[in-house]
Amino acid sequence: MATFDTITIKKPDDWHVHLRDGAMLSATAPLTARQFARAIIMPNLADPVTTAAAGADYRSRVIAAAGDVGEGAGFTPLMTCYLTDNTDVADLRQGFTDGVFTAAKLYPAGATTNSDHGVTDIGNITAVLDAMQDMGMPLLVHGEVTDADIDVFDREAVFIDRVLSPMLDRFPALKVVFEHITTSDAAAFVRAGGPRLGATITVHHLMINRTDMFRGGIRPHLYCLPVAKREAHRLALLEAATSGEACFFLGTDSAPHDARDKEAACGCAGVFSAPTALELYTQVFDEQGALDQLQAFASENGPRFYGLAENEATVTLNRVPSDIPTHIDVADGRVIPFMAGEKTAWTLT
Ligand code: DOR
Ligand code: ZN
Repeated sequence: MATFDTITIKKPDDWHVHLRDGAMLSATAPLTARQFARAIIMPNLADPVTTAAAGADYRSRVIAAAGDVGEGAGFTPLMTCYLTDNTDVADLRQGFTDGVFTAAKLYPAGATTNSDHGVTDIGNITAVLDAMQDMGMPLLVHGEVTDADIDVFDREAVFIDRVLSPMLDRFPALKVVFEHITTSDAAAFVRAGGPRLGATITVHHLMINRTDMFRGGIRPHLYCLPVAKREAHRLALLEAATSGEACFFLGTDSAPHDARDKEAACGCAGVFSAPTALELYTQVFDEQGALDQLQAFASENGPRFYGLAENEATVTLNRVPSDIPTHIDVADGRVIPFMAGEKTAWTLT
């Protein structure tokens, strides 16, 4: 157990983030670039990033929006291809070979925000997965079944049995990241899956359970997909993240939506943690007496999985409270961060 008032770690990366496009991108990219050297950028734009050309264009917009920390210097966006039933295998291969795409994202059709163009049946992307396995290109998975008759709290666990496990058997060398895991089932499955299987864990799933979503009334800014589960699952995620095990790494899944789209009769899924994500992860590790494992989770396990070098720069955090903004203005609206108006116990210098 380690306790410090200040901690310096190799600069972390965010292995799963939604930055969006246009005015929203201008607001979000600097927030992520402030804390992370690299980030895996999700491709579920309103017009999804399904081709290498679209990926290269989007990367340019992200770099421009991140500000003066240009690619290679301070912030490097790592782009992902949104898989569809009709993904062009040759284009995907070229995109990976040319370094436009780092990975490809599997959204089961209808699973979440902008997933309507997603994959309707894994059988439709057999050739894509063959090529990815062949190239060593990681597959990033939104791991929830979409069947209307499966309880929303069971969708991740059922996905393991019905989709993920058979897929891993069918493609024994495919590198897979089980994104934003929310259950003890997923943590155990990933642990047992060997070095080709990893998982990202968000800070909000480490901090809230499903009861928190209803504390004193319904709290739309805590609603995301996969939805937070019961407390026993949160505790299993805490154990996994702070264990130092190589298969678990940092991915915020920060997913901004205009407040009007969340505070609505049918609100959008997504927790916007980007403004203070690293401070909050540090707080969580501190509360667990596990600050000595923060660097592995935030800065080492991800690059090792992706076969990339660790960052050479470092970041320092102090045990000094900092304010979490009440909102971020975007165009004619606003986005409400995770724990808006509260404090985090740590400050990134
Ligand atoms: O809560 C979520 N929001 N989960 C996702 O998988 C997508 C994301 C978004 O893009 O808003
Ligand atoms: Zn996501």
